[in-house]
Amino acid sequence: MNGALLSVEGADGCGKSTHIGFIAQWLRKRGAAVLCTREPGGTAVGESLRQILLHAAATPIADRCELLLMFAARAQHLDEVIVPALAAGKWVLCDRFIDATYAYQGGGRGIAAQDIEILEQWTHRAVQPDLTVLLDAPVEVAAARTRQRGGKPDRFEGQQADFKQAVRRVYQARAARFPQRIRVLDAKQPMAQVRAELNTVLATFWQQRQRAHEH
Ligand code: TMP
Repeated sequence: MNGALLSVEGADGCGKSTHIGFIAQWLRKRGAAVLCTREPGGTAVGESLRQILLHAAATPIADRCELLLMFAARAQHLDEVIVPALAAGKWVLCDRFIDATYAYQGGGRGIAAQDIEILEQWTHRAVQPDLTVLLDAPVEVAAARTRQRGGKPDRFEGQQADFKQAVRRVYQARAARFPQRIRVLDAKQPMAQVRAELNTVLATFWQQRQRAHEH
């Protein structure tokens, strides 16, 4: 069976990392070769850009610069890691991908979706996630979890509630627009419940891929 590109999305503090670990394990148990990666990042260049994007404090980063850096990191990630891995039949599990750009740079920063689309077409060529898991939680719930975790908030975690509301709204709007690809899980439920729903989502997707492979 061919591999696939899976992305996991959600607000900071929605439990993304834990669920990604579970997905990787789920896939490996079924014999899939899984490559876990993240955005921005996933390559040496991308991780340097991540450092700037999340932690640069000396000078404000212009919104358009932030958008271009996200796509710069993604271009490198696609060419160096994602496209070769998919070509080798691997399952690529990506902690955030294109939907984060629409949510954060589009919703949060207010950049027009049409402008993001132009860069998306140019950068991605045809590569899109086959399945996206969106962990959705009210802004207060996600923010409280981030606070609990402690540490210094990064450039995105430190944003005001209206930025975070806009991020959530765009994620939800994209899930409504791409219902086949984006599966929404209510992340404020207890972990066991989220995991049970995630299990169903994965099993359904796995079966679809198997059927497609057989035909
Ligand atoms: P995370 O790896 O802890 O989720 O942090 C990555 C941050 O980068 C997160 O706050 C969302 C943000 N981000 C964007 O703003 N745009 C993007 O395109 C991506 C991939 C991430």
